[in-house]
Amino acid sequence: KDYQDILTESHGKVGLITLNRPKALNALSSHLFHEVNNALEKFDDDTNISAIVITGNERAFAAGADIKEMMEKSFAEVYKTSFLGHWGKINDIRKPIIAAVNGFALGGGCELAMSCDIIYAGEKAVFGQPEIKLGVIPGAGGTQRLVRAVGKSKAMEIILSGRNFSAQEAERWGLVSKVLPVDKVLDEAIRLGQEIAGLSQPSIQAAKESINRAFELSLREGCHFERKLFYSLFALKDKKEGMEAFVKKREPKWTDE
Ligand code: HXC
Repeated sequence: KDYQDILTESHGKVGLITLNRPKALNALSSHLFHEVNNALEKFDDDTNISAIVITGNERAFAAGADIKEMMEKSFAEVYKTSFLGHWGKINDIRKPIIAAVNGFALGGGCELAMSCDIIYAGEKAVFGQPEIKLGVIPGAGGTQRLVRAVGKSKAMEIILSGRNFSAQEAERWGLVSKVLPVDKVLDEAIRLGQEIAGLSQPSIQAAKESINRAFELSLREGCHFERKLFYSLFALKDKKEGMEAFVKKREPKWTDE
């Protein structure tokens, strides 16, 4: 399928989505975001794909939701049409999603990165939630995900001042898992995707599901959920294969069953 504002390709079992509105610094128009959702769902349903990478270009991952699109919209319009409703789709994707961030990841761009499962950032990446400077607040999970990632004081400082923060700060605070040279970010994200793709996929999916429950459940309920999933993986051939391979000191051959 041809898209206008994104590019898609596969690298082995890794599906790559490249945001591609360079002249607008990849501003996330509704049109672009619908294309991202469509590509995510296609990769999620594609049995040849086991992990997904989302990236932009060296200047911008994405400089936010499209301000020009939002400028004329009224409350009634955004409310009645559930303007940002489609931003939640990414949370239903079962396969791991890695954000490979270079350049600006601002507003909705930062929120998109935080909606991914893992963030790799280039040394010069710039994150921020500058919505306050536009007279609004983050609207795609920024106030919720940033505080869970970096804690209250930093989230308050960032969102209330609208100041940007660096890749190095993001890594120190635990928002980003690795900072890499600009030209290595995408390669390393794809390499990580391939590493994940080389493992038993039902366990990968279960691990992602269980980690995400940590944001929703109490510790007791979360551990209970994890335990049930752990038990359920004993129904898989891959569990037998993985443990047998360890004991016999050989490489496991996963069948994803
Ligand atoms: C629409 C945008 C845009 C955006 C940049 N552009 N960001 N268009 N929406 N979010 C456009 C500019 O208008 C300009 O178009 C072109 O991209 C290049 O941008 P410049 O500003 O000329 O580049 P530069 O001077 O290098 O400054 C880069 C920048 C700045 C610091 C990133 O563009 C900027 O501050 N952008 C807005 C960042 C922001 O406020 N993001 C939050 C958006 S609100 P022309 O036509 O002039 O060439 C948001 C709400 C989230 O995300 C709610 C949930 C989704």
